[in-house]
Amino acid sequence: MGEEHPPVPWDSVDFTVGDPTAMRTRFAGVLDYLARVELEVERNVLELLTIMPNPSEADRVFYADVWYGQEIQHGLILDELKRRIGLPESEPLLQVGFAVKALGAMAHFEQIQDVARTIYYFTGASTERQAVLAYNAFASELDAMGEKAVRETIINPIKRQEPGHFAFYRMSAEKVTTDGTLKPWQMWLARKLRTFSYELVGTHNDPRYQAQMGEVITKLGFERELEVFAKEIGRLEANLLWAQRNGLDFPPYVLRALREAVDVYRERGDFTPTL
Ligand SMILES: [Fe+2]
Ligand SMILES: [Fe+2]
Repeated sequence: MGEEHPPVPWDSVDFTVGDPTAMRTRFAGVLDYLARVELEVERNVLELLTIMPNPSEADRVFYADVWYGQEIQHGLILDELKRRIGLPESEPLLQVGFAVKALGAMAHFEQIQDVARTIYYFTGASTERQAVLAYNAFASELDAMGEKAVRETIINPIKRQEPGHFAFYRMSAEKVTTDGTLKPWQMWLARKLRTFSYELVGTHNDPRYQAQMGEVITKLGFERELEVFAKEIGRLEANLLWAQRNGLDFPPYVLRALREAVDVYRERGDFTPTL
């Protein structure tokens, strides 16, 4: 399967940047964030193995043969782009967080593992939607700046691989929430855990990273329409996990997380001075 979904080839990339200073000034925080989050795929795989000690064949093939190789290459390409415009290497967080460890400790109970993987699918779907939206907006910004090489050979090829990732998580989430796998108490538990632990991708409960996500949201122009953004990334779980609340566009915790990120960014400012 991996052969049908190869990573973006390194020699297809043109790292030419017309105006490195402008790119650095405007998008250092955005590039650093995107590169770091892509490189954190290593951590995601560790988390996955923690919460899903017995992955299904479909899950295993997806993360081992398709997803991991593509994401790590996204991260390596973006990190090289950063290096070329004078930014330091990204520092991905590779340690598994406490909540995941706790869930992992219970995941040898099959019914808990089903709850854990449900959350994993929703996390994946939300993350991949955030990636698609971010790369779309970034591609438009690059177009306006005339940075054709980066747009055509880096951001667009990366962007094209993200919807496939989203589709995998969406299908998995649809299946587990509708095929009778989950009893009502498991759905209830999944909603509780999601409410308490929802985070935007790569923020890790750390104000520094939340601020950086706020910067990404702001620099890519989403802060003017946070509710639209919340709908885009929260609609799937509103429909599947919160189906009993008819007509919910997104769960409230999605918008809360977005607002918090933007607020923390306003307090702390750009990520660049910390680089
Ligand atoms: Fe990616
Ligand atoms: Fe992805």
